[in-house]
Amino acid sequence: MRILVTGAHGYVGSVVVPFLRHHGHTVHGLDCGYFADDVLYAPADGPYTRADARDEDTWKAINLAHFQGIVHLAALSNDPMGELNEALTYAVNRDCSLDLARRARDAGVERFVFASSCSVYGVGDDAARIETSALSPQTAYARSKIEVELPLLALKSPSFAPCALRFATAFGVSARLRLDIVVNNLVAWAVTQNAIRLDSDGTPWRPLVHVEDMARTILACLEGPTAAISGEVFNVGREDNTLQVRQIAELVAVAVPTARVSIGTKTGADTRSYQVSFQKLRHHLPGLELRWSVAEGIAELASAMRKHGLTQERFEGREFVRLRQLKHLLDTGTIDGELRYG
Ligand SMILES: NC(=O)c1ccc[n+]([C@@H]2O[C@H](COP(=O)([O-])OP(=O)(O)OC[C@H]3O[C@@H](n4cnc5c(N)ncnc54)[C@H](O)[C@@H]3O)[C@@H](O)[C@H]2O)c1
Repeated sequence: MRILVTGAHGYVGSVVVPFLRHHGHTVHGLDCGYFADDVLYAPADGPYTRADARDEDTWKAINLAHFQGIVHLAALSNDPMGELNEALTYAVNRDCSLDLARRARDAGVERFVFASSCSVYGVGDDAARIETSALSPQTAYARSKIEVELPLLALKSPSFAPCALRFATAFGVSARLRLDIVVNNLVAWAVTQNAIRLDSDGTPWRPLVHVEDMARTILACLEGPTAAISGEVFNVGREDNTLQVRQIAELVAVAVPTARVSIGTKTGADTRSYQVSFQKLRHHLPGLELRWSVAEGIAELASAMRKHGLTQERFEGREFVRLRQLKHLLDTGTIDGELRYG
């Protein structure tokens, strides 16, 4: 298939693009490039267009009719970024996504895979959430994802198969690493500072998924039977990868035994805590196997950080923390208040 991947030069996109190519697809990337140069090692990007998905001109330059599938990852990708500017989060994550989906349908694209998030579940009791459970979004980021899902899935037709993947929090190695997500962050602490520090008590539950397993799920949605995926929303992850933050810290301590663990006593500022069922994904796509445990991902991360020389200075810098890099681009006038390049 010919596939367009938006957000191709982000953390997830930098794994998805080579993964899809490795599985025989012809992939073209699209990214406006906020994090393009923030690399742990040389990425395997392939052909791409550097452009903003919000711009009309972008869709004059890229002929969507050329593609059979679109994987839409481009987004302001986390909660603190949503707090930076709520209106922008809605403009990029919601309005731009729905606009692209409609353009794709009108151009005859057959499949559209949208990156949603398990953070739509927010706070709640300990019952595992299924796709039809009540949602309790805590942030503009989570709301922006929810507000795409229903209108997107309503575009389903015999010739257009959209689906929304509510990914658990990602972990694992990518050329464009993020260290602002919990597993990656704790491993970076351990590797660069010989310490694993939680300010909070670490009791919240987090469903987690390896970034390569995200790519594997996207591939299954592009290749699997249309009837199984069209118009559907899926939680994406593995039950045994749902851990309390303190359990993650303990697993990191196994992989980096010299690191000293300190766990605080306060309730964290981040109120998200939820467990999620992944049964629907298994039922609809029985051939899909998510391969990575959190422990395996931690070992892989520690080894890659050492191999590529991640230092404390780089860890504390802006390269691998999305909000810091965006603020840097704003402060230096590289992008304007609407996060557009001049
Ligand atoms: N990383 C996670 O834990 C996680 C979990 C659940 C869902 N997701 C979703 O997966 C997707 C990818 O996440 P990520 O971690 O790779 O984020 P990321 O921030 O690393 O990548 C997002 C990419 O989108 C690009 N982008 C942003 N606005 C754009 C625009 N207007 N036009 C073109 N490109 C634009 C950025 O330059 C960036 O490269 C996002 O939609 C995110 O919400 C991520």
